This record gives sequence, structure tokens and C-alpha cells, in this order.
Amino acid sequence: MRNLIAANWKMHFDIDEAENTAKQMANSLKFTEIDVAVCANFIHLDRLNTVFSKTGIKLGAQNMYFEEKGAYTGEVSPVMLKSVGCEYVIIGHSERRHIFGETDELINKKIKSAKSHNLKPILCVGETLKEREDAKAFDVIARQIKEGLDGVDAEDVVIAYEPVWAIGTGVVADRNTIEEIHAFVRQIVGNLPILYGGSVKPSNAEQLASIKDVNGFLVGGASLVVEDFKSLIEKFIKIKGED
Ligand code: PGA
Repeated sequence: MRNLIAANWKMHFDIDEAENTAKQMANSLKFTEIDVAVCANFIHLDRLNTVFSKTGIKLGAQNMYFEEKGAYTGEVSPVMLKSVGCEYVIIGHSERRHIFGETDELINKKIKSAKSHNLKPILCVGETLKEREDAKAFDVIARQIKEGLDGVDAEDVVIAYEPVWAIGTGVVADRNTIEEIHAFVRQIVGNLPILYGGSVKPSNAEQLASIKDVNGFLVGGASLVVEDFKSLIEKFIKIKGED
């Protein structure tokens, strides 16, 4: 299993800002110890493919629809993602689940479709604060994984544990929480990579990397600043080294 650190640029940057940031990354992120991916907005993918094509940086999307083509106004298909060089696609991010109402059933269809088009899905799971307070975190995560991966050959799937209350809040989950959830997820998914996401930054990367069963990060805010992204990758590698 190779460790992976993936940037999730969300809905940031116009096309020139995205291209400039990607160029800076292409010049300064030359890591061979782990995989590094940038999951960008649909609008950016084609240009980023050109920028990253001769580098080790992999390209990913943040979402997709499960059909290949047809009358689905506003949607983007896995065939389109492949045609602009995507290797990864984030599926079931908590913002998709909570703002756009994505269900486990829909997420399962997307994962199956991504796999059948040789895209590596990054399946996001994680509990809300209310679910944690109601002691439902384990049930929610088990359900999201089981339903998300129902009938799926899970090879090449990446899991990202992102507690919803830690995303974009600056509040990183504490060590025990991450350790016990990652151990729990490990029991369900075997040797698939399990990323942690939620307010990862250079100042906490070393501590997070030292947690067992953390095989990388999914990084939002800190991935928008090249120096921060580079620094947190270096810190991860310092602790985890090469597999
Ligand atoms: P954050 O986002 O690093 O800004 O908390 C992580 C994510 O949503 O993937």
C-alpha cells in the first residue's frame, strides 16, 4: 500500500490562479516516497493535466456522475474525467452528502462507475458532531463504508476519514479519536489506504502522521498554499518514510 496525500481545492481559484498554483506545485513537489494528488474543480482539470503531465503529481476530480453520457444537464461523467487525465475522484465528500443531499446509494453507484472506468475513488466517510455526541460515530462510519462499497471490488479504493466537525474549522480531531476510528475502519477495509482529513496543516502534520493506520491526508484549506502543502507533505514523510 502506498501512502497518499491528496489536495482538495474545493470551489477555489479561477482558471489562471489554478494554473499558477499548479505550476508552483510542479516545480516544488518532487516527492517519490508517497503519492501526491491534486483534486481540482472540473473547470481546471484540462489545464492542470498539461501542467502535471511530466511530473509525479496525479490529478483527481472532486465528484462525478455515474452515467457515461446522456441527458444529465450539468453533470460530468467518468469518461470525461478520464479524457482529461484524472486518476482519482473524490466520492461522497461530506459537503456533497450534507449540502447536496448525496445518499449512500448514490455514492455506491458513483464508486462502481468510477471503478469500471479505472478511476481510483477516494471514498469520504465521517460523522457529524451530533452523531458523535449521540455515540453514533462507529455506526455511521460502518454504514457509509458498507453501503458505499456494496458489491464493489475494493482494490484501488482509498478511504478518507473526515470528521465533519473537523473540516474547515481549524479543530483537528484528537489523537485517540483518530486512532480508534482508523483501527475500526481498518477492520472493515483490510489493507486499503485510510487517509485522515479535517484541518490538516503543517503545524499538526507530524502528530497526525505518527498515528497508526493513518496512510495519508486529504487536505482542503492548507492545500491552497503551495508552501503549506509542501511543508505538511515533508512532515508526513519525515514520520512515515517510504512504505
Ligand atoms: P480542510 O478540508 O483541510 O479545509 O479541513 C478537508 C476536506 O474537506 O477534505
